[in-house]
Amino acid sequence: MPEITNLSDKIKKQLPAELVNFMQVAGEMAYSQGQSLYLVGGVVRDLLLGQTNLDLDLVLEGDAINLAQQLVEINRGKITTHPRFGTAKLQWDKWSVDLATARSETYVKPGALPRVKPGTINSDLFRRDFTINTMAIYLNPSHYGELIDLYGGRDDLEHKLVRILHEKSFIDDATRIWRGLRYEQRLDFQLEPTTLELLKRNIPMLDTISGDRIRHELELILKEKYPEKILRRAEELEVLPKLHPALKGNGWLAEKFEQARQLTSPDLPPVGLYLALQAYPLTNEENEQLVSHLRLPKSLARTLRDTNSLKTNLESLADPELSPSSIYRLLHGYSSLAITANSLACDSPIACQHIQLFLDELRYVKPTLTGKDLTRMGMAPSPHIKEILNLLHEARLDGEVRSKKGEEELVRRWLDSRGRGAGEVLTNRSKEL
Ligand code: CTP
Repeated sequence: MPEITNLSDKIKKQLPAELVNFMQVAGEMAYSQGQSLYLVGGVVRDLLLGQTNLDLDLVLEGDAINLAQQLVEINRGKITTHPRFGTAKLQWDKWSVDLATARSETYVKPGALPRVKPGTINSDLFRRDFTINTMAIYLNPSHYGELIDLYGGRDDLEHKLVRILHEKSFIDDATRIWRGLRYEQRLDFQLEPTTLELLKRNIPMLDTISGDRIRHELELILKEKYPEKILRRAEELEVLPKLHPALKGNGWLAEKFEQARQLTSPDLPPVGLYLALQAYPLTNEENEQLVSHLRLPKSLARTLRDTNSLKTNLESLADPELSPSSIYRLLHGYSSLAITANSLACDSPIACQHIQLFLDELRYVKPTLTGKDLTRMGMAPSPHIKEILNLLHEARLDGEVRSKKGEEELVRRWLDSRGRGAGEVLTNRSKEL
């Protein structure tokens, strides 16, 4: 008889009392209805590793939506259900818990989403990616806290190994190739030798995965603490070229990611900034291939396009004689993540200084006077108002006026010379200044 491990002390020590209490109530409720409830997946792995993880995933041998509906009445929270998958999400205060009906999966076609049907906890654990993610903890009062470890997950945790459950795992779902690298690098583990062999052999299976799912995996990687470690490993194992052959996971990228972290600390950099840095070495055409391969949503696609287009204009920003208003003109209109990416990635110190000046100061400079002020000063409403405001903006940027009074004087000087045509007034403005 294998030894029974009870983790109830660990649960109490590592998880907040509200969540522990919730699990106990849920376990009692399931038990009273003759069903079994389990805590599963990443949170069990992290409990054993002593790492914080508050993403509770519960699996019920029974109808999870029904149980969730009963629980939501106690917590007075919000419930979101997916009847097709037999899953529900409960949210209350700052907590969120996923409940799923135990299921088994069959993969009809590599890379496609599996066919699912209700199953037991054993079949639910068997459908998972790596042994370290297949452990569960019993929550029913009779066995509360008992560890269920059917596939040697605990042993692999102790030996720091990422191991798949069966040899078709990467064929069934090649996103596990990326997931494996993510766990290996996040936890500082090793891919177990047979898993590593199968991973390498099945790299071509990544072609069976949709762009949306690959993008999702990449986003998960870019939300890790050190994504560059995963990308470096992906380059080493020749997985990275499957995203795009021109991408690199090298020292340059590691340095830029680190600078990005310093810039946004204590928060992690947004995915868009990391992605823009990752795609920085790509040509315009390669960039477009990446955008379409990953089916990037509009905002990320714009960040990548802007980054690339600004990169090709950096030469104009490297002119040491540029006035602040010219710097502004060259940079405004680009998305701010694209500008930040260029400030980190560009290799001309002068262009970098100019971008920094824009980010720190110029982008906030605005004239004080408005169109209304100009009409109050005697200008008839016309398109020239906009032009004068633009010129005032430039004068402000270049430090030629520094106060509202200065702006008014400048406008008055232009209006005094109204005898000449408005266009002439405007073209002569810079000379007068
Ligand atoms: N899973 C899987 N194959 C996938 C995705 C997920 O087998 N392609 C399983 C894993 O066992 C995982 C569980 O579903 O533990 C939940 O997935 P997810 O929330 O992505 O993983 P967690 O382990 O909860 O999160 P983390 O990234 O912190 O490990």
